[in-house]
Amino acid sequence: MKPFLTLGIETSCDETAAAVYHSTQGLLSSTLYSQIELHKKFGGVVPELASRSQLEKINPIVAAALEQAQLTLDDIDVVAVTNKPGLPGSLLVGICFAKALAYGSTLPRSPLILSLSKDEGRAKKLVGINHLEGHAFSSFIEHNVPFPHVCLTASGGHTSLYLIKDFGDYEVLGETQDDAAGEAFDKIAKLMNLPYPGGPVIEKLAREVNFQDFFHYPRSKQKTLDFSFSGLKTAVLYDLVKQNAYDLSTKTFLRPHDEQFQKEVASSLLVCMADIFEQKLVLALEKHPGVKAITFVGGVACNAYIVERLKTFALAHNIPFFHPSRKYCTDNAAMIAFVGNYKAQQGLFNDFTLDIGD
Ligand code: KG4
Ligand code: ZN
Repeated sequence: MKPFLTLGIETSCDETAAAVYHSTQGLLSSTLYSQIELHKKFGGVVPELASRSQLEKINPIVAAALEQAQLTLDDIDVVAVTNKPGLPGSLLVGICFAKALAYGSTLPRSPLILSLSKDEGRAKKLVGINHLEGHAFSSFIEHNVPFPHVCLTASGGHTSLYLIKDFGDYEVLGETQDDAAGEAFDKIAKLMNLPYPGGPVIEKLAREVNFQDFFHYPRSKQKTLDFSFSGLKTAVLYDLVKQNAYDLSTKTFLRPHDEQFQKEVASSLLVCMADIFEQKLVLALEKHPGVKAITFVGGVACNAYIVERLKTFALAHNIPFFHPSRKYCTDNAAMIAFVGNYKAQQGLFNDFTLDIGD
C-alpha cells in the first residue's frame, strides 16, 4: 500500500480539533481550540453555545493543522471525522465539514482552475470515527502497545473497560451504569462551588493534603466490571450534609471559606476513585490473565495521582503500563486521525450519507 495522509476532525463536544497523520511517519500535526472559558460561567457545557463555537472555529483549526504539517488540502487522502457519541449540534459541524471536503474533492475541476494549479488534487475518502475508539487507541500515538491489552477509558462523558485485541477489534468488559468518572469530579466540584472542569481542581486541592483518605467514601463491593459513580456523588453529598457543609433545601455549600475541608473532600474523593479503578483492574486481570499491557486514557488520565497509582499497580502485576501525554488524554483529533489511518488501511470507508451515530 502506498503511504497516505489522513486528516482527523474532532468536534463531538466542547473542543474543535484537527490533526494530520501520515501512514508511515505518524502524527504530523495536531491543533485544538478549547471552549472551556466559554462554558465555565455555566458550570458545564451549554450545547447551543458549543455548536456555534464549533462553527466559528472549524475552518481556522483545520487550516492550522494543514499549515503545521506543511501540507495543503490537496495532499490529504482520507478525511476521518468523529460521528458518535457526542452533542448532536457539535457533531454535525464536524461531519458536514468533513463531508464537504471529501465530496468537493470528487467533483471535476474546470479546465481554468486546472491550468492555474498544477495539481488536480486527490479524491478523498471519508470515514466516520467513534470518539471512544479514538480514546481507546490514543496511547498508540506515542507508544507501541502490545495486544491484547486492557484499556481503562475515563472521561467526562464515559468510563469503560475494554479488552483490546487488535486495531479496531475490541470488546467492552464493563462500563458506567450512570455518571462517568470525570462527571463525578465535575458534579462534586460544583457542589463545593469549585470551577468547571472539576477534575484538575480536585487534583490540585488533594495534592495540598498529600492525597490522604479523610472520609473514606464507599467503594462498591460488587464483583462486576461495570462502574457506578452516581452513588459516589450521592455518598459525598450526604457526607457533606452530615458534616453541616451543605444545605439540601437551598442547595447551598456552607463552608466556602473552609479550604482545609475542601482539600479533605477532594483528596478523599480522589483516593476513592483510584481505589475503584484498581479494584476493577484486579477483576479484569482475573478474567483475562493473558493480557500484555494496561492502558489508561481519557481526560481523567491527566490526573498524575491516579496515573501513579495505576502504574504502581501494573508494576506489581508485572504488566507494562501506558498512558498518553495530557494533550492526547483530553479530547483531541490526533486520536481520530490515528483510528482513521488504520480504518483506511482496513478499507473501512463511509459514503456521503454518513450521519451521527452510524
Ligand atoms: O476526555 P475529555 O476531555 O472529554 C470527554 O470526552 O468527556 O475529559 C474531560 C473530563 C472532565 O470531566 C474533567 O474533569 C476530567 O476529564 N479531567 C480530570 C483531570 N483533568 C481533566 N479529572 C481528574 N483529574 C484531572 N487532572
Ligand atoms: Zn472524550
